[in-house]
Amino acid sequence: MSVTMVKESGATTKRISRKEWAAMESTKFEKIHTEIFEGSLAASKIIAQEIAALIRYKSERNEKCILGLATGSSPIQVYAELVRMHKKEGLSFQHVVSFNLDEYYGLDKTDNQSYIHFMHHHLFNHVDILPENINVPSGKIAFEHIAEYCTQYEEKIESYGGLDFQLLGIGRTGHIGFNEPGSKINSTTRMITLDYLTRQDNAFAFSSMSDVPRKAVTMGVGTILKAKRIVIMAYGMKKAEIVKKTVEGEMLTDVPASFLQDHEDVTFVMDESAAKDLTRFDTPWIVGDLEWTRELKRKAVVWLSQKMKKPILKLTDRDYNDNGMSELLGENGAYEVNIKMFNHFQHTITGWPGGKPNADDTNRPERATPGKKRIIIFSPHPDDDVISMGGTFLRLVDQGHEVHVAYQTSGNIAVADHEAFRFAEFAKEIYNYAAGEKADSKVFDKLFKELRNSSKSETSPVDVRKIKALIRRGEAISACRYYGIQDEQVHYLDMPFYETGKVEKKPLGKEDVNIIKQLIEKVKPHQIYAAGDLADPHGTHEVCLRAIFAALDILKKQKYMKDCWVWLYRGAWHEYPIDEIEMAVPISPEELMKKRMAIFRHQSQKDGVVFQGEDSREFWQRSEDRNRQTAQMYDQLGLSEYEAIEGFRRYHFL
Ligand code: F6R
Repeated sequence: MSVTMVKESGATTKRISRKEWAAMESTKFEKIHTEIFEGSLAASKIIAQEIAALIRYKSERNEKCILGLATGSSPIQVYAELVRMHKKEGLSFQHVVSFNLDEYYGLDKTDNQSYIHFMHHHLFNHVDILPENINVPSGKIAFEHIAEYCTQYEEKIESYGGLDFQLLGIGRTGHIGFNEPGSKINSTTRMITLDYLTRQDNAFAFSSMSDVPRKAVTMGVGTILKAKRIVIMAYGMKKAEIVKKTVEGEMLTDVPASFLQDHEDVTFVMDESAAKDLTRFDTPWIVGDLEWTRELKRKAVVWLSQKMKKPILKLTDRDYNDNGMSELLGENGAYEVNIKMFNHFQHTITGWPGGKPNADDTNRPERATPGKKRIIIFSPHPDDDVISMGGTFLRLVDQGHEVHVAYQTSGNIAVADHEAFRFAEFAKEIYNYAAGEKADSKVFDKLFKELRNSSKSETSPVDVRKIKALIRRGEAISACRYYGIQDEQVHYLDMPFYETGKVEKKPLGKEDVNIIKQLIEKVKPHQIYAAGDLADPHGTHEVCLRAIFAALDILKKQKYMKDCWVWLYRGAWHEYPIDEIEMAVPISPEELMKKRMAIFRHQSQKDGVVFQGEDSREFWQRSEDRNRQTAQMYDQLGLSEYEAIEGFRRYHFL
């Protein structure tokens, strides 16, 4: 296999062997061989190739290939690629014997959320594996027989000579399989209790948190460690913290995945987001020489200022020298770097997000002209606009720009059934009242019936979705009117990829991109705001962003696009790190209150939402905390003190 290294500390497109990895200075804190790819798709293909090569190698020798398999979101693309190889490249699974890591206790094949169902859906139904060679722990063994059943599972693996290859995901608790914190290095297959965080992370597949099983049967850490080769995967920012603990931390029962440090042939494959907290990315200046880019200098100075608890202008030569940053000091020492950095951060702050008319804009984030801009705010769900950039949105309107808001998806799955029911009943009563006659009860009875059955069906019925979408439209336009924008400047795009009636969405299609493209063509904006938030737990923000990027790519040759600047904002979950913010818009206490009121208009997303996640704060609280925190960070760097700040990054598409 050809091996190409890219940058000393960057992501790679090809494999980095253990030897090459070990020779890199930047990996000196890492105790597990890591390979970092730009995205999960590239990584998954590489893993699938390794598995396919092993299957072929074994079948050429007429030997069985014993695979340990995982479920969850991480391996889905690996399985898709294996299925493709089976269909297109003749990869046969006749010699494969598979053992799955785990199963929810109480579920079986007939439950859509069971892991046995998952495996058939994503892999087994599409390849030629022999049914008798499939092993998934059963979730239906009577409690008193569990121990015996688990011993047999272990013995069966042993009877094949052990696992040749084990594929793993990692939970945010640090679990591998379902070995939650507290699992011992020599643990074997057994019944365990799932941690609350794990249940929350997996709750999206169930109708409510209380339906998520509390127990599971899982292979042990010891069982996993006996595999001859292990590949563990992690994708997305959500995994960054646990990746760092696993790869760089101590081996602890608190982080069961850290026991992988004890295995001699394990590779941790991840994408750049999951790798971001590794020392070589987070604070590369402490792992050796590096190329100081502008971005890195900013990151390092913010880090130094926070570490030393000093504003930028008070940092000394000694602070730089003691922290691996001496290369930043020129002839005039800290003074010069400090001033330069201070000015940079100062220039990111503007109360004029649409540009300040008739002012010198040399050091401002936005252009002064045209004084009145056409602007589109793309909002993935019908409330991200106010939650994530409500202060800036308000300023843009107040400063006289023509602001359009485009709600990319209907957001229907996030509305509770009882809410939809209430609105449907209300509509019926209003009709009766306004028309002075009884509404056609057949029409409403059908709706009510569907609403009653909605929670039982895997896919939300079309009519129920429609009602829910209307509720969200009503809320969105109410917030827009409150901010003072005209109804015709509010656009509901209802992108088709979202309309599956369940959490799992369709892939992004041409029709989705086309909808975005048409709106841009119509408005010909000078500014576009888009949610550049890749941490959305359901991936909707990411797909919405990709649709915008694809539309921009198609339109970039149009003359009017030369005048269009794109600003990215972060969704409800995280803000950009301060060193990455290119436009910081201060929000006054009054504006913050108005923003809160606009968020309140989204009543269906208040007071306990369908997808709460692990953060129990309401959206307005998360957003205010986050905006206040950004303001505090600017303050700590020694810049002006504001009530709150919203941060943006520019996306250059030309
Ligand atoms: C699944 C399993 C779990 C998952 C882990 C990560 O069989 O054993 O350890 O691998 O919870 O799940 P995802 O990939 O969904 O983040």
